[in-house]
Amino acid sequence: MALRNIVTVGDSVLNTVCRPVTKFDKRLHVLLDDMADTLADANGVGLAAPQVGVLRRVVLVDTGEDGVLELINPVITEQSGEQTGLEGCLSVPGQYGIVTRPNVVKVRAQDRFGAWFEAEGEGLTARCFCHELAHLDGQLYTAVADRMLTPEELEELASEDDEA
Ligand code: NI
Repeated sequence: MALRNIVTVGDSVLNTVCRPVTKFDKRLHVLLDDMADTLADANGVGLAAPQVGVLRRVVLVDTGEDGVLELINPVITEQSGEQTGLEGCLSVPGQYGIVTRPNVVKVRAQDRFGAWFEAEGEGLTARCFCHELAHLDGQLYTAVADRMLTPEELEELASEDDEA
């Protein structure tokens, strides 16, 4: 297990469509374990393989309740409702935006051994599914944000964090 470098905006890997995973081997498991370490170290809620420079359809989601969810070759099968709220990205440091997403999202994905399963997310988890899966198609949330926060709003947000 090891930390990997998180790629930041401006690097073309973040705008590249990722290839499906075809081998569920040791190399994939090392990638997943490294990504879990990297996500925990960065205090993030989600991480996609292109964010560590690997152009494969692999996503981790950790919204706090059920541990780290590993999604290989994930696809959204159902979505409903709507939520509008704050969103950030480990690859876009220091910025936040207001993004409208579905409130409930179902995904179909493979686990680290290749078995297909379904997962349903609501609220933050649904938001995270949408955000991370978009990374696999080379899309950043900044492209779909209703708007980005202003420097004044970012300052306010930072002071709220200090109080928490
Ligand atoms: Ni992101």
